[in-house]
Amino acid sequence: MVSYKELGLVNTREMFAKAIKGGYAIPAFNFNNMEQLQAIIKASAETKSPVILQVSKGARNYANQTLLRYMAQGAVEYAKELGWEHPQICLHLDHGDSFELCKSCVDFGFSSVMIDASSLPYEENIALTKKVVDYAHQYDVTVEAELGVLAGVEDEVSSAVSHYTKPEEVVDFATRSGCDSLAISIGTSHGAYKFTPEQCTRDPKTGRLVPPPLAFDVLDAVMEQLPGFPIVLHGSSSVPQEYVDMINQYGGKLPDAVGIPEEQLRKAAKSAVCKINIDSDSRLAFTAAVRKVLAEKPGEFDPRKYCGPARDLMTELYKHKIINVLGSDGKAE
Ligand code: G3H
Ligand code: 13P
Ligand code: ZN
Repeated sequence: MVSYKELGLVNTREMFAKAIKGGYAIPAFNFNNMEQLQAIIKASAETKSPVILQVSKGARNYANQTLLRYMAQGAVEYAKELGWEHPQICLHLDHGDSFELCKSCVDFGFSSVMIDASSLPYEENIALTKKVVDYAHQYDVTVEAELGVLAGVEDEVSSAVSHYTKPEEVVDFATRSGCDSLAISIGTSHGAYKFTPEQCTRDPKTGRLVPPPLAFDVLDAVMEQLPGFPIVLHGSSSVPQEYVDMINQYGGKLPDAVGIPEEQLRKAAKSAVCKINIDSDSRLAFTAAVRKVLAEKPGEFDPRKYCGPARDLMTELYKHKIINVLGSDGKAE
């Protein structure tokens, strides 16, 4: 058993309380490798933003759980080395799909876990979430749950359409499950194709897809039912068109990739939405930079020569999100 406290990590409780009060959101960035982690920590340290390092089940399998734990511990030390005196870094399991996985993460030094039982029937979602909460809370690890279904793929679970969270269920769910935060479905989805062209209109000037707005009425109704309760938005990448263009220009093929417009995320960040999940945008930045170097310098075979620029572009992306979208800069001096 390793306590996250020994690793210098924090859970989400205080982060979220401050974020709701202050009208900003905490960035939850997924990472799978060293360059992503370096970029996240550098961006957070330079902006003094609290940050959630997110690890999916797939990332855990990819990177190895032991290595990940030491990477997170190393991240705290790296942050200090960068001059961030009191880093507020949370290590969070993203989309945990079983009690066993969540328990293993708690035992392995995670400070927060998500149990995503949103594909199960309502009562089973509550029962499994409660089981994870009962275990995690013994170690002061916070628990995120999900109610409602996002369109697209959530690890092995996929759904063609999203089922918005039902506001009339949230009080019962939060009370009986004991979760610390709740991920809701208001029209976001995972990946770089959040909407089909049929769901969008097209800007006649640029030819770009313009996505439909998120269901802010559902968010408002949830907040009315659960005043001050931490709400989480998954699937919140904006799919920056400059990265999509770069990828397409240098040999990739991502036609009509589209995300959530930043102004909608800015609006959400000012509400009880206090955690905003971003993974795809980092993948796009990484891929765009790597493709550019390899296309322009086909003789290059030193990974540092293309992973370095990828890391720089991701750092820029994370800083932009923190400062211009989530508003979490300067909140962890
Ligand atoms: O919610 C999904 C995250 O983007 C993680 O994706 O399961 O491919 O690591 P992954
Ligand atoms: P994106 O695919 O929009 O980056 O969402 C990531 C996410 O929700 C991770 O849980
Ligand atoms: Zn997610």
